[in-house]
Amino acid sequence: MKLDILLGLQWGDEGKGKIVDVLTPKYDIIARFQGGPNAGHSLEFNEIKHVLHTIPSGIFRKNKLNIIGNGVVIDPIIFHNEIKKLENLGVETEEILMISKKAHLILPTHKILDAILEKSKGKTKIGSTLKGIGPTYVDKIARNGLRVGDILNDNFKEKYNLLKNKHKNILKNYDFEYSLEDFEKDFFLGIETLKKFQIIDSEYYVNNFLENGKKILAEGAQGTLLDIDFGSYPYVTSSNTFSAGACVGLGVSPKKIGDIYGITKAYCTRVGRGGFPSELFDEDGEKLQKYGKEFGATTGRKRRCGWLDLVALKYSIMINGVNKLIISKIDVLTHLDYIKVAVAYEIDGKIVGNFPFDINQKNIHPIYKKFEIWKSDISNIKSKKDFPKELKNYINFIEKELKVPIKIISLGANRNSTVFM
Ligand code: IMO
Ligand code: MG
Repeated sequence: MKLDILLGLQWGDEGKGKIVDVLTPKYDIIARFQGGPNAGHSLEFNEIKHVLHTIPSGIFRKNKLNIIGNGVVIDPIIFHNEIKKLENLGVETEEILMISKKAHLILPTHKILDAILEKSKGKTKIGSTLKGIGPTYVDKIARNGLRVGDILNDNFKEKYNLLKNKHKNILKNYDFEYSLEDFEKDFFLGIETLKKFQIIDSEYYVNNFLENGKKILAEGAQGTLLDIDFGSYPYVTSSNTFSAGACVGLGVSPKKIGDIYGITKAYCTRVGRGGFPSELFDEDGEKLQKYGKEFGATTGRKRRCGWLDLVALKYSIMINGVNKLIISKIDVLTHLDYIKVAVAYEIDGKIVGNFPFDINQKNIHPIYKKFEIWKSDISNIKSKKDFPKELKNYINFIEKELKVPIKIISLGANRNSTVFM
């Protein structure tokens, strides 16, 4: 069997959680491969609205396994709270969730460092979720990090103190008050929670599962335009969010990759700072924000909104090798008077079709194509044949431009508001 991947093609929040949950019945195992609790994956079904941060979105389906891969960074405090919330909903997690020994741990001091380093950037701050993601990946690359496998050893506390003291030495350079006590208590409580789960050499499990014909879906976090290499650097996250990240973050050969599902909203959003050529500052943007309920699932911040950007999408599709496209939140567009799609950029008088090196520059002006909006409510449509002609027109154009078949259209947050094409 091959490993399929589902990932976001924009700046995150494309609806990955919902779609993974919808696709889970077709798979045996769902695996996260990068990022950490900066992610907020929302699921809605049977009157339940739930947000997952660290735990894969397959957790609500019976008889499915979920794996947190080596590429993920875990905050034991947030993990503990996530488990408690699931227990309160009656979800038994211990049997169906496995964690890689090689996943790195977010320490309380990583979060403090995140806050201080972000603050000290002043005007150039990233708009991080402040979950300690950057500093934890820094320590991983700098070969200082602590991994989940370390918690099983007697000298864990010693290793913890060593890293904590390194961090305290860095923190001395900043005029910033912080207290560790409460954080640390919760951290070690979270470590005990982690120990209740199967802590595994996940690369062996994943490869053996594939060998034995099991179907695995790798669930991306963040989005391609937040990728550390290919995103709108430096306004990005600290991991490889694109498809190759699944090989690195699970220990799977590129030869074993099957389908690559790319998901995009029918418009664009971004939380935090950084370039966004098709961003709207007018009534249309406000409508997208309002009707799309565009608030961050992790931080509660208002999301910036704008038109769909095909220049960016073509770039994302190229580097990911997407062969199946998913479009979410098309229903939100119903509230607008027309739709626009960016088909190219104008930069200093030149028409540009490629995603520029510096997307954060101010002189990028999108060139739009305008579409008529449908007049009827589409949110309860169950089949493609019932789409109004304006909607067909819109998605046919996107499919033709992007040269990737659209497989799923999502018309709302609920599991049931999904049309398979
Ligand atoms: P999901 O998985 C949207 C953004 C932050 C910030 C930048 C860096 O729900 O799509 P970080 O905390 O990684 O240091 O923040 O990346 N960001 C996200 N935006 N969805 C996410 O995850 C995000 N994870 C990080 O807002 O701009
Ligand atoms: Mg999110």
